[in-house]
Amino acid sequence: MKPHVTCLMISSVDGRLHPSRYTESPDGTRKDWSAAYEQQHDALGGDAWLVGRVTMAEMSKASAHPPASPGAVERPLHVATRADSYAVAVDRSGKLHFDGGTLSGDHVVVLLGADVPDAHLAELAGDGVSYIVSDAREIDFAAALETLAEAFGISTLLLEGGGGINGALLAAGVVDELQVLVAPALDGGDKVEGIVTLGAEGLAGKVRLSLLGADTKPHGMVLLRYAVTV
Ligand SMILES: NC(=O)c1ccc[n+]([C@@H]2O[C@H](COP(=O)([O-])OP(=O)(O)OC[C@H]3O[C@@H](n4cnc5c(N)ncnc54)[C@H](OP(=O)(O)O)[C@@H]3O)[C@@H](O)[C@H]2O)c1
Repeated sequence: MKPHVTCLMISSVDGRLHPSRYTESPDGTRKDWSAAYEQQHDALGGDAWLVGRVTMAEMSKASAHPPASPGAVERPLHVATRADSYAVAVDRSGKLHFDGGTLSGDHVVVLLGADVPDAHLAELAGDGVSYIVSDAREIDFAAALETLAEAFGISTLLLEGGGGINGALLAAGVVDELQVLVAPALDGGDKVEGIVTLGAEGLAGKVRLSLLGADTKPHGMVLLRYAVTV
């Protein structure tokens, strides 16, 4: 059975997902919006958090260091270790690099597409990173989540962006709950670079949201909680 998936996002009032672009709040607490996100992450307490390739690249800055000779590599699954908590990255073509098997204390698992070269898998294994390779170039998120549950014991997973990957998992129908922390802020641009949207495919007809609750949070933030059904 796949893990229970909760998508947690921070948004401006006009629905934009990149806090560095937001207007400042009157009390100058803009930096605390990220702290509120982390507090909600801790409150939800999942076994794993999952992010997209772009978001993970902001956290893992290692460069490529493939072994001279890859040798035999495991496909489709390599379990470097099992852990109490996991950092999961979606990287269908193998662009991400790591300098160890943990990130912020969580064991790293990478979800890859079938075209990823053996040399990249050998690099990940050499770094102590676990991975799951999909059968096709496009990642089968339902199957990957089943493997995360079966091979790593993950039963609750926090989907934490960015917008591209959140939208892809919503479109795949594998998200159970959506939590949006709305900051008292606006973005406002619509023809400038840096706008992050919720995927590219459009979600009409793919999911439905039912309000579970709305909670006020410090610094004028509001937490909206929705059940997601397909
Ligand atoms: N507001 C929030 O809550 C929040 C949370 C986290 C991050 N962020 C911000 O969001 C920004 C990044 O957002 P983003 O949307 O550009 O990037 P992202 O979601 O982190 O990653 C997007 C990448 O994921 C891969 N991807 C997308 N759809 C896929 C699919 N169906 N299957 C497999 N891979 C898929 C693609 O990688 P490839 O191009 O390699 O195929 C795509 O470029 C960052 O600036 C970050 O600071 C905001």
